[in-house]
Amino acid sequence: MLRHTVTLIPGDGIGPETSAAMQRVLEAAGAPIDWEIAEAGAHLMESEGTPLPQSTIEAVKKNKVAIKGPVTTPVGTGFRSVNVALRKTLELYVNLRPNISMPGAGGRYDDVDLVIVRENSEDLYAGIEFEQGSEDASELISFCAEKGAGIIPLDSGISIKPISITGSRNIVKYAFDYALAQGRKKVTAVHKANIMKHSDGLFLRVAREVAKEYEGRIAFEDKIVDAFCMNMVIDPSQFDVVVLPNLYGDIASDLCAGLVGGLGIAPGANIGKDYAVFEAVHGSAPDIAGQDKANPTAEILSAAMMLDHLGERECAGRIRAAIREVYAQGDHLTGDIRWATGSSAPAASTTEFTDALIAAL
Ligand code: NAI
Repeated sequence: MLRHTVTLIPGDGIGPETSAAMQRVLEAAGAPIDWEIAEAGAHLMESEGTPLPQSTIEAVKKNKVAIKGPVTTPVGTGFRSVNVALRKTLELYVNLRPNISMPGAGGRYDDVDLVIVRENSEDLYAGIEFEQGSEDASELISFCAEKGAGIIPLDSGISIKPISITGSRNIVKYAFDYALAQGRKKVTAVHKANIMKHSDGLFLRVAREVAKEYEGRIAFEDKIVDAFCMNMVIDPSQFDVVVLPNLYGDIASDLCAGLVGGLGIAPGANIGKDYAVFEAVHGSAPDIAGQDKANPTAEILSAAMMLDHLGERECAGRIRAAIREVYAQGDHLTGDIRWATGSSAPAASTTEFTDALIAAL
């Protein structure tokens, strides 16, 4: 049987716990995977001087496929986000986040089946920022005033929002091709083109052009991001594949995760032309790290997406079926799900949940 070597980056916070659970489940399912462990995370700052060593990037490049636990990014310091750096370095321009209702997980709806396709490299995540009070910020403020572009208060910090034709075209095309390949029916492009005419307006124009290439095969609509959020909360079943610029995609995917049961069950993937890095939507959850409390479902579902990507669909299907069985049965669910369902039953630990899942397999 063909075996696949995959780079595993456990990350920090709850990452090592959810990664260990994921490995146990894949082994029990007979997934033909050999792991190569590579490190990333805040804990490397002292020994390596960086949270993302070059050797980790090289390991992903060698194997082409990786699965990653979350990594902490302290707010408001110079510490660069490992996630943003990895996405940029490996040109992972797609962030794919399926949101599918799971009976027993405490979701607000039982008929959600939509996929968020988030642009992963541009927009306000491009990292082009000017610190409040810096010489560069005041030069930029003067430039905008001189050009008649607008008056920016002198005590402002500034973040730039670039959106390109190439980036927009790549992500929208990916959304349509994904919809075709998965037998889905509709793509919705989400934007705020009425206000940001030269960035979101460009994204919408490109989305409309690309949609024409798929006319008659995949339906297309667009929604302004605020209306989209309201529609999502009222009736998420109306959406199928949703494509968004980076920031809206980040926010909307957490909203979707909340509708189907929370971050504990939301999987994701970062995909580029050459490499793919799979990871749960959630962060490093420092509040519960190291306590055997984390829900590993999101990382295990991310691994199932990885198995699909590697052509191991049958194995992925068995893992998803076992997860559904454990949730439907309901005796071994972690604290986040107990909270989401309003249940007073005792919460299972990460280990107990994983044991139940392996038994179901
Ligand atoms: P978070 O997702 O880590 O936590 C938000 C809440 O959800 C917390 O109450 C946490 O306990 C809970 N939660 C998250 N995942 C859970 C799980 N698997 N099981 C049970 N409960 C879970 O978001 P937060 O607190 O905003 O971020 C913490 C750190 O993680 C930050 O440094 C952030 O930058 C980083 N982060 C990293 C990501 C990544 O590496 N892909 C993604 C998002 C955030």
